[in-house]
This record gives sequence, C-alpha cells and structure tokens, in this order.
Amino acid sequence: MVEIHKVAVIGAGVAGLIAARELQNEGHQVVIFEKSDKLGGLWVYDPRVEPDELGYDPTREIIHSSVYKSLRTNLPRVLMEFSGFGFADRQYGDPRTYPGHQEVLGYLNDFAARYGITELIRFESEVIRVERVGDRVDRWVVEWQIKEEGKRTKLEEEVFEAVVICNGHCTVPRVADVPGIEKWPGKQIHSHNYRVPDPFHNQVVVVIGNGPSAHDISRDICKVAKEVHVSSRSPDTVFSKLDPYHNLWQHSSIHDTREDGTVEFEDGSSVQATIIMHCTGYKYEFPFLNTNGIVSIDDNRVGPLYKHVFSPELAPWLSFLSLPQKTIVFHMIELQSKWISRVLSGKVRLPPKDKMIKDVQEFYEQMTLLKRPKHLTHFLFYSEEYLDWLAEQAGISPVEDWKKEIHRESLKRRENNLSGFRDE
Ligand SMILES: Cc1cc2nc3c(=O)[nH]c(=O)nc-3n(C[C@H](O)[C@H](O)[C@H](O)COP(=O)(O)OP(=O)(O)OC[C@H]3O[C@@H](n4cnc5c(N)ncnc54)[C@H](O)[C@@H]3O)c2cc1C
Ligand SMILES: *[C@@H]1O[C@H](CO)[C@@H](O)[C@H](O)[C@H]1NC(C)=O
Repeated sequence: MVEIHKVAVIGAGVAGLIAARELQNEGHQVVIFEKSDKLGGLWVYDPRVEPDELGYDPTREIIHSSVYKSLRTNLPRVLMEFSGFGFADRQYGDPRTYPGHQEVLGYLNDFAARYGITELIRFESEVIRVERVGDRVDRWVVEWQIKEEGKRTKLEEEVFEAVVICNGHCTVPRVADVPGIEKWPGKQIHSHNYRVPDPFHNQVVVVIGNGPSAHDISRDICKVAKEVHVSSRSPDTVFSKLDPYHNLWQHSSIHDTREDGTVEFEDGSSVQATIIMHCTGYKYEFPFLNTNGIVSIDDNRVGPLYKHVFSPELAPWLSFLSLPQKTIVFHMIELQSKWISRVLSGKVRLPPKDKMIKDVQEFYEQMTLLKRPKHLTHFLFYSEEYLDWLAEQAGISPVEDWKKEIHRESLKRRENNLSGFRDE
C-alpha cells in the first residue's frame, strides 16, 4: 500500500525544488517554506554583503547567497540539470557550456513553473522552529515568521508528518585560524562577502584556500590588485608564480602574521599584505531545528545521519537534503529526493534502526582510519559510489555513464587549467 504524507520542505533552493517535485510525484502533500521573496537560493545573486565580513556577529543581518558577480558554473551545464528537464537545450541568454549564475537561476525558475512547484512555496516565510510534537516521531510542528508591511512580522505554526531540511550550507563562513592574526593590522573578509574586484584595487591580497572559490576569486581580483598570493595547506604546494599572470603567486600555508603587516608562509616566503580573503568554506547550521540533541553538529559533522540523509532515530520523518559536497550536486540531490520520497511512501524500506546506527559508526571509524578530519564528513571527493548507491536504493537508473565521463573529464580539465578550463 502506498502511503501519502504531509511534508514540510524548508528552503526553495535547488534542493527544495527537486524535493518538491519528487515528493509530489509520489503523491505526498507538500508545502515549501522560503524566507526570501524568490526561489533559487544560492543562485539568486545579491549585491549586498554582510557588515561583519567574517560573519562573527550573531546579530548581523544574514545575506543568503555567496555568489559573486563574475561567477560561472564549475560544472558544465549538462551536469546541472534534473531528469526530464534538460538544461543543455534550454537558454536564458548565456548559451556557454559553463554559464554565468543568472543562467542557472533562469533554469530553476522554469523548472519550478513547469512542475507546478512555484505555487507550493510560501515566500517570505522564515522557519524559526521545527520540533517534535510530544514523543511521536511522525508529528512535527513548524513555526514560521511572515514579513508584513512596515517591518511587522507575524508568527504562524502548522503540524506536518515529515520535514525535509533544505536550508543550504553555503552561507555561514568557516574562518581559518591564522597565527598572530590578533595583531595583524590588515582587513579580513570571507568569500561569502565577496562580490566584485573593485575594492581590491592596488591591494596586496592573501587568499586562503584551495577550492573553486579560492581559484576563481584570486583570478578575479588579480586584474586590479597589486599582488595576489594564494595560500594552500595541501601538501604538494610549491611556492611559484602562476601563469599567465604577472601578479599571482601560490604559497604553502601561513606560518605567521605580524604587527607590521607581514604574512609569512611555511615555505619561507613572506609578503606585506593589506587584505586576507578566507575562501575556507562554510558551516552547516540549522538554527530552527530542535531534536533535543538527537541530531547535532560537531566540527561540521551533522550526525548521526544514515548516508548523510536520515537520522536513524527519527527516520524517515526527518531528513536532510544536499549535505554532501564535491560531487555532481544536482544529480545527487535528485537521487536523495527520490530515495526520501519513496521511503516515505513505503515503496522503499530503510534498514532497522540499529543497522543504520551501525552503518554510521562504521563510516566514522573508516574516516578515523583514513586520518580524514571530522570537518570533511560530508565531502564525497567526487566518488561516484554514493550516487550509484542512492540510485540502487531508490530503485531507479543511476547517473548515465556518459555523464560520469563528462564529469571526470571536466575535473581533469579544471585541475590542468584553472584559469581557462571553462573555455577550452
Ligand atoms: C560560490 C559557490 C559556487 C557554486 N557553484 C556550483 C556550480 O557551479 N555547480 C553546482 O552544481 N553547484 C555549485 N555550488 C553548490 C551549490 O551549493 C548547489 O548548486 C546548490 O545551490 C545547493 O542548493 P540548496 O538548495 O542545498 O541550498 P541553497 O541554494 O542555499 O538554498 C537554500 C534555501 O533555503 C532558504 N532558507 C534558509 N533558511 C531558511 C529558513 N529558516 N526558513 C525558510 N527558508 C530558509 C534560503 O533562503 C534558500 O532559498 C556552488 C556553491 C557555492 C557556495
Ligand atoms: C587554458 O585554457 C585557455 C582558454 O580556454 C587556453 O587558451 C589555454 O591554452 C589553456 N592552457 C593550457 C595550459 O592548456
């Protein structure tokens, strides 16, 4: 027998939108809560930045998106589509294989319209509380705040059977510990608050990080900055000037910073810098969620979660979408959504609670054996295993081989040509 449930989806970004389609496909009744007045989440460019550029002040106004003006996708568009609704053959003014961010937003808006998802969204409704009603695992109260004219807000609540959390995880800065930073006189900023290169005119900038943001932002600002020095802690880093730029260097991690503005690197090199830009990733946070400690966050490990999705204790009624990183994000989220939807409808069964708990424990032990730091719990390192596992669970076809091939090829090209891989 197919079961139908009333499900709250929190957030109308990539994850919330595809979750809604898949839940509806299974017949579930869906409400999406979205705090802003637009769908698309990260892909809604916002020129504003937060006043506290490292995100330390808990009372700051939070700007959701971390997208910068020049951002182009780091995957080809064919890897950023949902099944049944091709992106490669749809255009919103930027037909390039690796389009600018506006193109992705155009696609998401069209997707939501095509599948009747836009109507399910309660806009300007920020969820401020999600918790169980009494001891039942299948009753959840969702409380949200509605913006009204003249800054007044109104609170409302409603009970759901299941909650799917899709609030995104690229908004709250994770800042690197830099030795001596208390006395270092320059300015610091996290990539979350980077939009355009202009403020970096004539500056000497140290960019910390080795991910796509560090690669792209360093190349964006070196057009106007005096010098840009990228600092990476990855062990194979050698001090070198980066081609084809005259003012861009690669260094190892930072050894020390000093009162006179010096930034000294482990490789012995040093510079007099005026700005440090942290491209060091983000923190998972669910400020509205109260599970009485059943799900917690420890050094960016959200857990315990079975396969990054279900709390064994609260499954299948509480689930998390989109936590894994370094993968084919859109496909991964679609597979997770199908799995959640079919588990809720009873078509697919989860293992018993103790088996799920054991699986999570084994995964953590495996990480310890591999000496992988806890904060990388949700990093998939582009492994395809998880995607295939999800497809099998959900009883659907895996990501096509030709797409996996394109993925491998795009990663290879990116690695070999960080400045030009998008236009090769
Ligand atoms: C700089 C950058 C570049 C990236 N580039 C790519 C790329 O090229 N290709 C790719 O595939 N992936 C890329 N990613 C990964 C990106 O995170 C995913 O593509 C995708 O946007 C994740 O979607 P999401 O729905 O999980 O989160 P988001 O897009 O962040 O959506 C979350 C939504 O939840 C809403 N929300 C949050 N809290 C609440 C609340 N309390 N109540 C109600 N609503 C709430 C937010 O307003 C938002 O609309 C990039 C990430 C970053 C940071
Ligand atoms: C990198 O890409 C650019 C632009 O696509 C291209 O002109 C350049 O030759 C490439 N460099 C290398 C080393 O392959």
